[in-house]
Amino acid sequence: MQPFSAFGRASSLKGEISLLGDKSIAHRALIIASLAQGKTSIENFPASKDCLYTKSALKKLGVRIIQNKGIQKGSYRLLVFGRGLSGLSSPKGDIFTGNSGTTFRLLLGVLAGQNFKVRLMAGSSLAKRPMFRVTEPLRQMGARINAKRKTQNLKPEEYPPITIKGGNLKPITYRMPLASAQVKSAILLAGLYVDAGTKIIEPIKTRDHTERMLKLFKAQLKIRGKEITIKGPSQLHSPGRIYIPGDISSAGFFIVLAALLPNSRLAVKGVSLNPSRLGIIRVLKRMGADIRIKYSGNNFEPAGDILIKGSELKGAVVKKEEIPSLIDELPILMVAASLARGKTIFKAVGELRVKETDRIRSMSANLRKMGADIKIVRDGSSEDIVILGVKKLKGAKVKSFGDHRTAMGMIVARLLASGRTEIEDIACIDKSFPKFIRLLESVIR
Ligand code: S3P
Repeated sequence: MQPFSAFGRASSLKGEISLLGDKSIAHRALIIASLAQGKTSIENFPASKDCLYTKSALKKLGVRIIQNKGIQKGSYRLLVFGRGLSGLSSPKGDIFTGNSGTTFRLLLGVLAGQNFKVRLMAGSSLAKRPMFRVTEPLRQMGARINAKRKTQNLKPEEYPPITIKGGNLKPITYRMPLASAQVKSAILLAGLYVDAGTKIIEPIKTRDHTERMLKLFKAQLKIRGKEITIKGPSQLHSPGRIYIPGDISSAGFFIVLAALLPNSRLAVKGVSLNPSRLGIIRVLKRMGADIRIKYSGNNFEPAGDILIKGSELKGAVVKKEEIPSLIDELPILMVAASLARGKTIFKAVGELRVKETDRIRSMSANLRKMGADIKIVRDGSSEDIVILGVKKLKGAKVKSFGDHRTAMGMIVARLLASGRTEIEDIACIDKSFPKFIRLLESVIR
């Protein structure tokens, strides 16, 4: 794809947008519907590459899925013929998950419950992402796992490809050493196959889409604060129809841009308002953003509209406990902080180093080129990002590092900067948000 330089500087965002279904919820809906009894119609399923890798993986495991066009342009309506908890079949050949970390890690949890061997393969960026965090608890439960091993910072680490043979799992109590919804979800999915309770204790609460989806399908799940216990094996029952609310992480790019452009008035309609994902809204409000939320019903996931008016932002401190609720929004919040008055500190953001790319590096290198003042400060075993707001960003030649959220973050930065900005390699946006640029063009004034 050509370097991106299509727009001039934006003066405001005006209008209304609706987004395709939330990526995290979509993966879970599809996986859990496949393990349930009965048919499930999943609506507003996003046509993003990551979610389609989950679909192709489940098809390889014997799940019948019919794909129709959805009501919203670019979305699908999937009809999933659930196979029941023990109905998956051994695939012919390996399963390729592209660069979708959620597909890879959640599937490991499901495969830990299967009595056959599967090799999971990953694309080039996922092949560099750490997997020990998920293989370790699954091995404790009894899954036999072979992975590529390397020593990383004097610790053993594991990477794809991974071969797993599951079955005969035993219950564990697992105190998670790091906050990760993907790891929690893999253990919960494996826990579906264990008869005594499997208990997980989170250090900080992370997104709870798996818990909500499992409850919707009538799994036996108990949640007490940061402790979750799942008891299997009991069949999951399809609720019939699931509508996936819009993706709040995709909304983040529009919300920040509208908040920073003085005359903006933007409505994001029908978006997921799950509290475990709303860190971006809480932080932007502390930064002085004019944002209102209108809830429009609470099915298994709260949803509604977000209304943003442009204003001036000021710096804020974002605590360690808040990071999981905005982990994917840190790149765009770094753009907001670069143009806010005063200092913003994002505490304990070390996990950003192991996303699709090292996002501390990708975002700070790019934004510094545009004139931002960013420092990375070591704090014990993690790192803080300290940003001193500047009056203006200036055009520069930047790159996505193959990462969709870095690419979208830099497109937003480009619309706020003076001069010409070229962004190299933005094709990766398809991973989560294929219609991003077209939608942006529809609201830019
Ligand atoms: C996700 C969890 C987060 C997030 C990722 C999606 C999920 O990852 O960054 O984009 O759907 O569970 P971690 O679990 O690695 O924090």
